Amino acid sequence: MTRIISIINQKGGVGKTTTAQNLAAGLEKKGFKTLLIDLDAQCNLTYSVNVDSKYTIYDVFSDKISIKEAIYNNFIAGSPLLSTIDTILNQTGKEYKLKEALSDIINHFDFIILDTPPALGTITINALTAATEALITAQPDAYSLQGISQLYQTIFAVKKYCNPQLKVCGILLTRYNKRTIISNNATTSIINKAKQLNTKVFDTKIRECTAIKESQVVQKNIFDYAKYSNASFDYQKLVEEILGE
Ligand SMILES: Nc1ncnc2c1ncn2[C@@H]1O[C@H](COP(=O)(O)OP(=O)(O)OP(=O)(O)O)[C@@H](O)[C@H]1O
Ligand SMILES: [Mg+2]
Repeated sequence: MTRIISIINQKGGVGKTTTAQNLAAGLEKKGFKTLLIDLDAQCNLTYSVNVDSKYTIYDVFSDKISIKEAIYNNFIAGSPLLSTIDTILNQTGKEYKLKEALSDIINHFDFIILDTPPALGTITINALTAATEALITAQPDAYSLQGISQLYQTIFAVKKYCNPQLKVCGILLTRYNKRTIISNNATTSIINKAKQLNTKVFDTKIRECTAIKESQVVQKNIFDYAKYSNASFDYQKLVEEILGE
């Protein structure tokens, strides 16, 4: 069965896009057919993967084209127009738009990875409704716990009304620095929170690593840009953990 993984956190700058890009690249390098979709109006992922596609996911949401036409190099680009999504997705059933679109192509892929915006609006609800799993990225800091609790309320609502099968596959700590007390204290709190919420913190932690920022400037994934960096090692480990290896 195709695994559809939504990378989520309504907090900004916590490694969602970085994780979406490198998780998809790592799965692809393992031989899995993987589709990556940029659902964020900021289009950071579209910039980072550097695919020059003619259409975007907005064209699919607005029924201009089929989802098949929007795929270019196993990628569907984002659009700044996604910030106006509520003007076109305003009918009953609007939460299911992405799920319905994906049903046409789901059999062509082993994995579909969804990068979402830092908000809990219509797009994130669509992503969670379409997903088989949610992967929460979080930075170990003082505000993370609050954010994760709020996020869970949304996840529970989506499970109740739109997608009972949805699972939270885990919380991924990003920009991790084990030498700082704040990272260590916050990590312990997040692990306890995860237990309360019936999920886990991934054993893999993505360390703070300058190669990540450099890779995004030159529009490459971390494996192609710096194969021997800490971040490359960590994202490789995440891929294996997600595959259960
Ligand atoms: N492991 C890391 N080491 C160093 N920098 C990182 C790491 N992960 C992410 N970053 C940097 O942190 C910033 C935020 O990362 P990213 O864009 O992936 O977060 P995001 O959650 O997608 O943000 P937004 O909510 O705005 O979409 C970026 O500048 C990125 O280069
Ligand atoms: Mg992002």
